[in-house]
Amino acid sequence: AVVSLPSRRLSGRHVIVTSGPTHEPIDPVRYIANRSSGAQGTAIAAALRDLGARVSFVTGPAEVPPPEGVEVIAVETARAMRDAVEAALPADAAVMAAAVADWHVANARAGKIKKDGSGRLPELQFAENPDILAWISQLGRDRPSLVVGFAAETDDVLENATRKRKRKGCDWIVANDVSPATGIMGGTENAVTLISEAGAESWPRLSKQEVALRLAERIAGALDHAQDG
Ligand code: CTP
Ligand code: CA
Repeated sequence: AVVSLPSRRLSGRHVIVTSGPTHEPIDPVRYIANRSSGAQGTAIAAALRDLGARVSFVTGPAEVPPPEGVEVIAVETARAMRDAVEAALPADAAVMAAAVADWHVANARAGKIKKDGSGRLPELQFAENPDILAWISQLGRDRPSLVVGFAAETDDVLENATRKRKRKGCDWIVANDVSPATGIMGGTENAVTLISEAGAESWPRLSKQEVALRLAERIAGALDHAQDG
């Protein structure tokens, strides 16, 4: 008899998850980074794994350890993250939860920058990093059938996130308000709105694990439909 196994809805599926911050070197001992802990991306990877997916977990230097039972690809920079995502293709779905640095230091030095005694300050020049989410969303044949991005905003959260979804070409954007007053950045909870072509759906404030579980269930549902179509 055919039995349904609702807890393994993603078995046979491959999902790429990016997570954590990236570090962009200034010189061999210094870097530019951001406050992402990697907690939400890690929880998403674990939830997808629990539903039976094969997960490629491409992570920057995060505070929280990566989940067990996933393929961990550890990177430092946005450029390395892009290359690792490309190497992990093809995939059925991609969830870009990393807080990718927007710029790298174009004039990063091979040797440690020293104070030269004159009081002159070093000048950093920046160059834009590849936008991994926009790139994967606009891939041709190799585009995963579902691409999910995040939008951590401090102002006009829904308007910004809705615009971001269109601009990048991803299917869903998980928007959240990271203004300091919410206490979300670096915390254990998250309050998100899932934005798709169909509209915006706000979820209550939940633990990052619960957000991950709901998102993984949604992804399983969307891939079922992609299969049927
Ligand atoms: N992202 C990415 N590569 C980048 C920058 C962002 O893949 N170089 C992804 C993030 O992982 C996230 C989404 O894009 O899923 C939105 O990131 P965000 O920083 O909010 O968007 P930006 O386009 O960088 O816009 P902003 O100027 O608001 O930072
Ligand atoms: Ca950004």
